[in-house]
Amino acid sequence: MQNFEFKNPTKVIFGKDQINKLSGEIPEGAKVLMTYGGGSIKKNGIYQSVLEALKGFEVVEFGGIPANPEYHGLLPALELIKKERITFMLAVGGGSVIDATKFLSSAALYDGNEPWDILASKIRTEKGLPFGTVLTIPATGSESNSGSVISNKETKEKLSMGGPGLFPQFSILDPSVIKSLPERQIANGLTDAFTHVLEQYMTYPAGAYLQDRFAEGIMQTLIEVAPRVMKDPNDYEAASNFMWCCTMALNGLIQKGVPTDWAIHAMGHELTALYGIDHARTLAILASSHYKYGFERKKEKLAQYAERVWGITEGTLEEKAKVGITKTDEFFQSLGIDTKLSAYVSDYENTAKEIASRFSERGWLGLGEHKDLNPEDVEKIVEMAY
Ligand code: NZQ
Ligand code: ZN
Repeated sequence: MQNFEFKNPTKVIFGKDQINKLSGEIPEGAKVLMTYGGGSIKKNGIYQSVLEALKGFEVVEFGGIPANPEYHGLLPALELIKKERITFMLAVGGGSVIDATKFLSSAALYDGNEPWDILASKIRTEKGLPFGTVLTIPATGSESNSGSVISNKETKEKLSMGGPGLFPQFSILDPSVIKSLPERQIANGLTDAFTHVLEQYMTYPAGAYLQDRFAEGIMQTLIEVAPRVMKDPNDYEAASNFMWCCTMALNGLIQKGVPTDWAIHAMGHELTALYGIDHARTLAILASSHYKYGFERKKEKLAQYAERVWGITEGTLEEKAKVGITKTDEFFQSLGIDTKLSAYVSDYENTAKEIASRFSERGWLGLGEHKDLNPEDVEKIVEMAY
C-alpha cells in the first residue's frame, strides 16, 4: 500500500426530508446565492422545499446552469456574487450545478484577470467562497469531493480544477429525488459512478486489500441495484443504495494508497467537448477499448474484478480478464447505453487524431497509472472505440 493522507471535510446529511435541516447548516446572517440548473427543480418541488428551508436568509438566485457548465455563461454569476456581496452559496442540482458553484467559489476569491486561468494553468484552490449542496441526481460524487469540470465553448475544451478549498461544507442527499429523474439520467449516474470506481481500481495490484474490497463492494452494489432503480425509481431502498454508492465512488476514500488511472475520463471529456455527448456515455464508449489496449498491464486486476465482482471462476487469468472487459460493456448496454462512438456521431473519422493532437499541445504526454500513455496510444484507444 502506498503512503497517503486522507481528509474529507464535507458533512453528509443523508435521507428522506433532510432538506429541512438546511437552515441549521448555513452560517447565521449569510447572504446566499442559490445556484441551479435548467428548471427540473421547479417541476419536482425541490426548488420550493429549498426556498422554504431558507426562510430567514437573504437569497439571490442564479439559475439556468446547463449540463456541462460553460465558463462564459458563469461570468454573470461571478459579477452577481461581487455586486450582491454574497457570503455563502447553495448549489441545488447535479454535478453540473455543483461544479459550476465550485468554479464560482474559486473565482470569487481569485485575483487574476482571467478566471479561466484557474483551469488552463491548473491553479489549485486552497480557499474558496464557502458553499453547500442539495444533490438532485446521484452520479458524479461532486457533492463530496473537491474537483470540478468546466467547459469553454470558445476553445472547445473541458478542463478540471480542484483543491482543498473546494469541498462543499455540507451536502444534503435525499434519495427521493431519484423519483423525478428521466431514465437516461439514472443510466448515466450508474455508469459514471461505476467508471469512477474502475478508474481507481483497474490498474495493478498494490497490496491494498481493503481499498480493493471497498471498490468491489461499490461495483457489486451498483450492479445489484441498477435493474431495480431503472425499473422503479420509487424503490427507495434501491435508490438510497445507488445514491450512497455514487458518493462513495468519488469522495476520495477508495483512491487512497493505490495507483489510479483516470485516462478514460481524460479522453471522455474530449468527446463531450467535441460532440456534447453526455459525460457518462463518453466513459462507456472508451472503457473497453482502454482495457483491451492496456490488457497486459491491467490483466491481474481485470481477472480479480471478473472473479470477485462478476463471479467468473473458470479459465486462465487471461481468459477471466477478457470476460471482465466483456461484462463491463454488457453492464453499460443493459442500461441502454451504447458503447461505440459511431452510435453517437456519424462524422467521427478524425476524432482520434484530433484528441491526440490536443493532448500533445497541452503537454499531456503521460496518462494512466504508469504516466506513460502518450498521445499515440490515446489515438489508438479512441480509434478502437469507433
Ligand atoms: O438542468 P436541470 O433542469 O436541473 O436538469 C438536469 C440535467 O439536464 C437533470 N436533472 C438533475 N436532477 C434532476 C434532473 N431532472 C429531473 N429530476 C431531477 N431530480 O439531469 C441533467 C443532468 O444533470 P447534470 O448535473 O449535468 O448531471 P451529472 O450529475 O451527471 O453531472 C455531469 C457533470 O459533472 C461532471 C461531468 O463532466 C459533467 O459536466 N463531472 C464532475 C465530477 C466531479 N466534480 O467530481 C466527476 C465526474 O467524472 C464528471 O466529470
Ligand atoms: Zn465521471
